[in-house]
Amino acid sequence: MRAALASCRHLRNRMSSNGIHAPGPIPFSSRLKEGRALAEDVWSIYNVANLPADCINLGQGYMNFAPPQWVKDAATQALQGVAENHYSHPKGRMRLRQAISQSYGPQFNRELDVESEILVTSGANEGMYSVFVAFLEAGDEVIMFEPFFDQYLPSVTFNGGKPVYVPLHPPAASNKSPTSNEWSIDLVELRNAITPRTKMIIVNTPHNPVGKVFTREELQGIAALAKEFNLLVMSDEVYDCLTFDGKEHVRIANLPGMWDRTVTVGSAGKAFAATGWRVGWLIGPASIIRPTLAATTRIVFCTNSPLQEAAAAGLEQADQRGYFATQRAEYTERRKILTDAFDRMGLTYTLPQGSYFILLDISNVNFPEDYPFPPSVLGRGRDFKACWFIALEIGVSSIPVSEFYCEEHANIGEAYARFGFCKDVDTLKKAAERLQKLKNYIQ
Ligand SMILES: Cc1ncc(COP(=O)(O)O)c(C=O)c1O
Repeated sequence: MRAALASCRHLRNRMSSNGIHAPGPIPFSSRLKEGRALAEDVWSIYNVANLPADCINLGQGYMNFAPPQWVKDAATQALQGVAENHYSHPKGRMRLRQAISQSYGPQFNRELDVESEILVTSGANEGMYSVFVAFLEAGDEVIMFEPFFDQYLPSVTFNGGKPVYVPLHPPAASNKSPTSNEWSIDLVELRNAITPRTKMIIVNTPHNPVGKVFTREELQGIAALAKEFNLLVMSDEVYDCLTFDGKEHVRIANLPGMWDRTVTVGSAGKAFAATGWRVGWLIGPASIIRPTLAATTRIVFCTNSPLQEAAAAGLEQADQRGYFATQRAEYTERRKILTDAFDRMGLTYTLPQGSYFILLDISNVNFPEDYPFPPSVLGRGRDFKACWFIALEIGVSSIPVSEFYCEEHANIGEAYARFGFCKDVDTLKKAAERLQKLKNYIQ
């Protein structure tokens, strides 16, 4: 007992001499110091809670309409069961894995093995995070095209990875009616970004926030480099069912020699207007899915069960109901409401060929420098101020695009605001009407 007390006292002395007992907050992990993890993120700044109550929210990319009734019915039915309310297998519920296999198998030109080639995850985000956990060693480099979906950055740095940025070059300023196709990649830049530490390339098609649908040629170029340097490709295709104007969605996993090194990411949230369900999936070879399963099992153990059943019902019935074709037509109409509004004002924007975002060129939107901007906006790019000003003066919120760039290149993004058209027609029409007032602030 005396020995125990003595050692305890010794420990206390040692600790205080090290300053561990010094009053103050307990230090948090250094991994939070990188990747902008602690900065107030753009979603919090432009959150409806911070904006006037009547501001129309075209900022964060979620719908203001419910999932289809038949999908909701499947969720309600699942809640009445017993097994459906309990843990699922960490790989995902068999019904959903089978539905994914049936629905995606033909798109990958292969039979997808429900045991080893499909993993259900808690949204696409958790799936991608699990891939990073499973594959990154400290110092491994992960190439991402800029602008990039903002979650990639902290998800890579939390896992010891080092983000490496390769630009998607914006269309020439002289191009007054660009499409997302004119945001281009330079394969020489991509090659130059590859080092002996490069482990992975993230591809996002259709792209958030540009709306770019990568062409077969572009993907072939990326694939050739991935094969030459033995890289893993994470292909974030959560908007795969949202391409417009007959634009073909090409899956990089289908290109010769790519299946074995590609993991494809999907999301029930995007497919079925159910972003809060947090159901997503990964499709790929067993060599990628097995280690990722080990990671996801430790992170969430399994994804919520009843909504997996509902997502399964969605995939099972989508074809016979013509659901994705109808959804594409609806989004085409929604896109047109905003692009017509911008056309009427003579504003330049990127016409998206996929996803549900439009980049508006805001470089000539004029706002008073002494406008009462909140502290969260001051000190950020010009686009942060422009978006704040537009939200307060015009009554329509959007997202500043510099958030989708690393600090060194943020100035490229400052020229754009991202408007989401994942809203119902009435809301978009009202927003379009309000946006006409923007004319008063154009230089
Ligand atoms: C490109 C991209 N990937 C992934 C996600 C996340 O999908 P989920 O909600 O299924 O996690 C989003 C959501 O906005 C996205 O835009």
